This record gives sequence, C-alpha cells and structure tokens, in this order.
Amino acid sequence: MRSTASGRYNGVAMTLHWLIAILLVGNILLAWYFNTLTGLPKIPPIQVHKSIGVTVLLLSLVRLGWRLAVPPPPLPPSIEGWSRFAAGAVYVLFYLVMIGMPLSGWALSSASVIIRFKPILLFGAIPWPTITALSHLPPAPMKQAHEAFVAVHGLLAKLAYALIVLHVAAALRHLLLLRDGVMGRMVPFLRAPAA
Ligand code: HEM
Ligand code: HEM
Repeated sequence: MRSTASGRYNGVAMTLHWLIAILLVGNILLAWYFNTLTGLPKIPPIQVHKSIGVTVLLLSLVRLGWRLAVPPPPLPPSIEGWSRFAAGAVYVLFYLVMIGMPLSGWALSSASVIIRFKPILLFGAIPWPTITALSHLPPAPMKQAHEAFVAVHGLLAKLAYALIVLHVAAALRHLLLLRDGVMGRMVPFLRAPAA
C-alpha cells in the first residue's frame, strides 16, 4: 500500500487523528469553561459537551476499527527500545481515554433522575439513548453510581492531560530536535521518513 511504503499514515487515519484531537481538546476546554459557571447557565454548554463527547466516541470506534483493518505504517527503525514501548503505551492509553471518557460521561449523565425528563439530544437535534439500567436505579444507588462515574470521568481527564503533554512533547522533539520525519507520518504537508 502506498501510504505504508512512504512511512505515512493514510488519509483516513490522519483525518480521524486530527478531527478527534481537535474535538477532544475542545471538549476539555469546554468543561473547564462550564466548571466556572453555576446553575442554569451551565446547562447549554454541558449539552454541547455531551454532543461533542458522543461524536468523539463514534469517531474513535471508527478509528479503532480502521486501525485494526489497516495496520499503521511500521515505526522507523531509528525508534527503538524505550521510545518504541513508550509510543505504544501512550497510544493504548489514548484509546482508553478516547473511548472511556465518553462512556463514563454517558454513564454519569444516565445515573440521574433529570435524564428521564431531559434526555440527551445531540446538537439539539439527534436523540441519544439513556443507559436505562442506570436511570432507573433507586435514588441511593443512583447517587452512588453517579458519584463513581464522575470520579472515573475526572480520573480519565487527568490521564488525558498527562498523555497530551507527553505526546505533544514527543511530537515536537521529533520535529525540532531529532528531525527524523516522524511528524510527517501524521502531517500531510511535512516530509515523512522512508519506510
Ligand atoms: C490531544 C489529542 C490527540 C490524541 C488523542 C492523539 C492520539 C494519537 C494516537 C492514538 C496516535 C497513534 C496512531 C493511531 O492509533 O491512529 C497518534 C499518532 C500521532 N500523533 Fe497524535 N494525538 C493527539 C494530538 C496530537 C498533536 C497535537 C500532535 C502534534 C503536535 C500529534 C502528533 C502525532 C504524530 C506525529 C503521530 C504519529 C506518530 C507515529 O506513530 O509515528 N498528535 N496520536
Ligand atoms: C471527548 C470526550 C470527553 C471529554 C474529554 C470530557 C472531559 C470532561 C472534563 C475535563 C470534565 C471536568 C471534570 C472535572 O471537573 O473533574 C467533564 C465533566 C463532565 N462531563 Fe465530560 N468529557 C467527555 C465526554 C462526555 C460525555 C459523552 C458526556 C455525557 C454524555 C459528558 C458529561 C459530562 C458531565 C455531565 C460533566 C460534569 C460532571 C460533574 O462534575 O458533575 N462528558 N468532562
């Protein structure tokens, strides 16, 4: 395949990578913003947050399926040992974040009485189901489930911050210090290393 021969991710993988990156970072910034609000003004940005989050879930599942169907180009041989392991570990944990954040968000939102009266409406238009096993719990276990999923959502957010810092630092190190073309594997207009 041409993309593999040039040591570059193909167009679908690149498009999904950048779309998910923008939406995921945007959704974190949106959460930081709505966390500064209280009461009714908090509701509209939370609705947008849920819509973007579910979009990230669907795109990430497509991306995972694509990655399994069309394996990424092999890492250049210059990346060896610890760096190779670190890159792999960061990617696996990123998939955990990309899928786990929306799922825990969906779960914490479902474990609430309000959701029965105000179900999730993606971008104000497309109905998204509620996890009824959670929305129909008796009040005390529902509160416990809600708090547990809020905690998971918050923990995964911290993991996301760490991964983003590591990943962007690694990408910039390859671009500016090592100049080995690794950035070009994911950025269409940069030079990619030969496979
Ligand atoms: C913050 C959201 C981001 C997420 C969730 C993310 C996730 C990933 C994942 C999972 C991969 C592995 C390839 C795959 O499975 O498709 C990857 C590769 C890559 N990412 Fe990101 N990324 C993000 C942001 C960025 C940014 C801001 C940059 C550049 C500064 C970047 C540069 C790269 C590069 C160059 C690769 C290819 C590395 C290689 O395998 O040679 N990413 N990213
Ligand atoms: C890309 C996916 C997502 C990211 C990166 C993300 C990120 C965040 C972050 C950083 C917070 C603040 C956490 C804190 O203050 O500890 C938050 C809160 C929240 N998220 Fe998400 N989220 C995502 C998906 C979702 C989805 C799909 C839903 C619901 C369907 C959702 C519902 C919520 C709610 C209701 C809160 C407020 C929780 C509370 O403090 O009561 N999130 N999210």
